Amino acid sequence: MELKKWGPLRGEITVPGDKSISHRAVMFGSLAKGTTEIHGFLQGADCLSTISCFEKMGVSIENKGDVVLVHGNGLHGLKKPETILDCGNSGTTTRLISGILSAQDFDVTLTGDASIQKRPMKRIMEPLSRMGADITSIRGNDCAPLLIRGTKLHGIHYTSKVASAQVKSAILLAGLYADGITQVTEPFVSRNHSERMLKLFGASVSTEETTASISPATQLYGQKVMVPGDISSAAYFIAAGLMVPGSEILIKNVGINPTRDGLLHVCRAMGADLTLLNVRGQEGEPTADILVRHSALHGTTVGGAIIPTLIDELPMIAAMAAAAEGETRICDAGELKVKESNRIAVMVENLTAMGADVTETEDGMIIRGGKPLHGAVINSHLDHRIAMTFAVTAQCAEGLTTIQGADCVNISYPRFYEELMGLIQKRGVC
Ligand code: S3P
Repeated sequence: MELKKWGPLRGEITVPGDKSISHRAVMFGSLAKGTTEIHGFLQGADCLSTISCFEKMGVSIENKGDVVLVHGNGLHGLKKPETILDCGNSGTTTRLISGILSAQDFDVTLTGDASIQKRPMKRIMEPLSRMGADITSIRGNDCAPLLIRGTKLHGIHYTSKVASAQVKSAILLAGLYADGITQVTEPFVSRNHSERMLKLFGASVSTEETTASISPATQLYGQKVMVPGDISSAAYFIAAGLMVPGSEILIKNVGINPTRDGLLHVCRAMGADLTLLNVRGQEGEPTADILVRHSALHGTTVGGAIIPTLIDELPMIAAMAAAAEGETRICDAGELKVKESNRIAVMVENLTAMGADVTETEDGMIIRGGKPLHGAVINSHLDHRIAMTFAVTAQCAEGLTTIQGADCVNISYPRFYEELMGLIQKRGVC
């Protein structure tokens, strides 16, 4: 993919459905009694991996495009798959499904692509084992492929070292099947889509400060789920609107759950002209339309409790910081090293290639912004968020940017490049 600075981005855009919510709607719908109707489902490769895993366990799923119908098998109705379950590139599929599989009455082997086979699974194997689960890393390296032998589970109170919604959700899902209450305490609150949606499906879930609790369930019930636009996808257009002179973009129907909205706070701290319009849906998943206009951005500090609320947006924040005036420090973000790629190393590598002044630290990076950026060859390391970050950054750089492995955007945003170009062509519409 070759891109260069094409001028202002103007117009309206609706980003695809939230990835985390789409995964959960398929999973919980599969375990529920009755049909779950999912509107705005993300048709990205990650969420399609989740559909395929549940289909292999006997769940009938009709994917009609924007609407997906999941005809649930009930809490105890999954069937032993005839083949290995392939989670593709999806950490959410791998980790959440492990919580469910730990409690079934069959054995299953779970794997994924080369990236998934390098991602740490000990973080779920350890708490699930404490609940009585029988999970083995087949190669003995605490990564997938995993052999999970379903068994009876008991409730635990687990204190996690990492603030991770994938870890928390795996434990809560296992807790649906346990013989007592299951609790997870995390250092900071991570995204709470599982807690919200499990409640909607009839589970008994509560949250107090950084602890989520679930009671064993007898049944979940199919629901209508309206998936809001993914703030992690909107992030690229928020950044593009702010960074490219003359831009004004209205991004419609974006999920602004407070456990996901850290990007908005950081943008404001950097001096962004950003307005939330039409805020609605407070009870389920809150949403809003986001209006951004080009702004003179300055550096800031990003660390502590806000990190889990913007973890997937940090690559884009780092690039915004490179284009902003002054210094930005990102700290407490060691989790970036174990995402689809090592996002600290990969951001430093690629921002440096574009002329930015960036230093890698143990748990983040220091970006001294304001140096002129130039086009470069970007290695996406097949990480969708890296590819999208640099497609946007190319809009602020002199000369040609070439993104290697650009197709990986299919993981979360198949039409990303078309929609980016669409805003450039619609000059003056807003
Ligand atoms: C996700 C949680 C986050 C996030 C990932 C999706 C989820 O991962 O990075 O893209 O859907 O629960 P961690 O829980 O590992 O932080």
